[in-house]
Amino acid sequence: MGRLQDKVAVITGGASGIGFAAARLMATEGASVVIGDLAEEAAVDAAGKITEAGGQAVGMAVNAMEEASIVALVDGAVERFGALHVMCNHVGGSNPRKDLDLLRLDMAEFDRTMQLNVRSTLVGARAALPHLIAAGGGSIINTASVGGLSGDFLQVAYGTAKAAVIRMTQYIATQYGAQYVRCNAVAPGAIMTPALRDNLPAEAIESIRSHNALPFIGDPEDIAHAMVFLASDESRYLTGQVLTVDGGMSSHSSIAEDRRALLPDPAKN
Ligand SMILES: NC(=O)c1ccc[n+]([C@@H]2O[C@H](COP(=O)([O-])OP(=O)(O)OC[C@H]3O[C@@H](n4cnc5c(N)ncnc54)[C@H](O)[C@@H]3O)[C@@H](O)[C@H]2O)c1
Repeated sequence: MGRLQDKVAVITGGASGIGFAAARLMATEGASVVIGDLAEEAAVDAAGKITEAGGQAVGMAVNAMEEASIVALVDGAVERFGALHVMCNHVGGSNPRKDLDLLRLDMAEFDRTMQLNVRSTLVGARAALPHLIAAGGGSIINTASVGGLSGDFLQVAYGTAKAAVIRMTQYIATQYGAQYVRCNAVAPGAIMTPALRDNLPAEAIESIRSHNALPFIGDPEDIAHAMVFLASDESRYLTGQVLTVDGGMSSHSSIAEDRRALLPDPAKN
């Protein structure tokens, strides 16, 4: 409790899934939280749940792909709570039915995915930076994905966009570190959210689980805890990094599974 006392945080896409878990945990740690979401009613409801539990939160409408909308969200947060210390650019995703391999990729989906993940992160950081600098420094947290760390057979647009988010994180960290603005990314593996349930069949989720080093799929709170750490002064010397929270999915080489089969005595493992 109190690790984010007196801090003001904005989170885009905070009405559901990982974003809501992060908003709730940040409020529990003492932050005043502004939840911005395309689903305005859901954002207001989410903030209401936090307020009922004794936290400080408001929900506002935002379309994170539009710069004017995100500027209004961030300015509104500063007007309401007096400053800004933490900016979470959390909106992202792609439609896995249209985001396939390179030759079968729907190009309109590619453009939308770049807007939803890359542009939203860039305009979110641009809107927040003057306020973070005015506050004497702060923390920008961008949501990437393990999809942005290596190649895959599907979701080329999503992976490319999240890789850009990771590189942008380093650029922001480099360009604004002198003003005490830190910028880091979290790269979640599979996390049990409405988006995951809606987009992936059960056998695909089970396939991911079977390739994690840890034998389970993470919850939104697993990412929220990492985001609270990155928002807090506990991470004051940490910038330009990617914190991968994926149950160890990306911790092993692609041939590890085959090598397990070669173990002299599988019963020992
Ligand atoms: N769930 C996972 O397994 C997983 C894994 C890796 C990365 N991520 C990333 O986490 C983030 C959120 O994922 P989630 O699973 O919590 O999703 P979710 O669908 O549960 O929540 C996304 C929220 O964003 C809002 N939103 C969508 N478009 C918006 C826009 N243009 N402007 C403002 N709000 C908008 C939605 O209304 C929703 O409330 C994304 O960046 C996603 O790529 C998720």
